[in-house]
Amino acid sequence: MHNRKALIGLLNNPVVPSVVKYAPSLVEYIDVIPDRLWYDFEHAEATGGRFHRVVGAIEELKKCAEGRVLGGHGIGLSLPSAIPLDMAMVGEVASLGRELKFQWFSEHLSMFLVSHGSVPNSQAGLGLPVPYDEEVFGIIATKLAVLKQELACDLLLENGAVFTPVPDSEMTEPEFLNRLYSETGCGTLLDLHNLYVGQLNGVLSAVEYLEQLNPDCVHEIHLAGGDEMAGFYTDSHSGITPQEVWSWAYKFCPSFNNLKAIVFEFHESYFNKLGLSGIAQELERMHELAYSLKSA
Ligand SMILES: [Fe+2]
Repeated sequence: MHNRKALIGLLNNPVVPSVVKYAPSLVEYIDVIPDRLWYDFEHAEATGGRFHRVVGAIEELKKCAEGRVLGGHGIGLSLPSAIPLDMAMVGEVASLGRELKFQWFSEHLSMFLVSHGSVPNSQAGLGLPVPYDEEVFGIIATKLAVLKQELACDLLLENGAVFTPVPDSEMTEPEFLNRLYSETGCGTLLDLHNLYVGQLNGVLSAVEYLEQLNPDCVHEIHLAGGDEMAGFYTDSHSGITPQEVWSWAYKFCPSFNNLKAIVFEFHESYFNKLGLSGIAQELERMHELAYSLKSA
């Protein structure tokens, strides 16, 4: 039984304001990627000119934020990487988070940054999977403690889209997430479509995964669609949520007592394919799910 209906929302992108205008009552929450609201000139750090904010996009987002809840959804900190936490970026996230009133902040349980890159702040094109062992747990836990202090809000980590198994891990991903929750208080942003990606690519069984995950961890859910590329199923955020993903949502969400938000992720390059009415229909389905949980 859920006391409060989970908020229904979207991952922010440049076309989200037009969705909000089209269907204002269907969007209650917006996941904001801070890294898409600035240009990062890392080489200019010493002169204090590193981050240049996209002022127009921030002002438009503030208008959308009226009467809605916002959360931060970072992509730039690459917490599992064995490189130091980028404190200048943490400071910028904190500052934007205060300005936009982020209620919580999530990052990814994937590696986007690798050391020895040829350019500063060089990012891997795809999130690289994480070997789940004590060493990585220690790296992430230490960084989460700093992040918690700087951001002063609840933190979540999201399961990534994985395309190939990682051999010789000491823990499974849900075991790792369960430990993060019990030992650091960091919750899970459960991307159900990323489980679908892992299942179709032969990495995991989604039902086994969900049976292993401590339901109390889950504070937010992502839904999305994808498509195939070079023989892999990808998290391209190109379409509506597949039916099998909905079936997992209905089976497992009733036990997620700490669930606060359900978010549909689509990439703006697929906006014309989805259409305003297609996105609104997806949001309506999500509200139906959330209402079913409240009365369950
Ligand atoms: Fe996601």
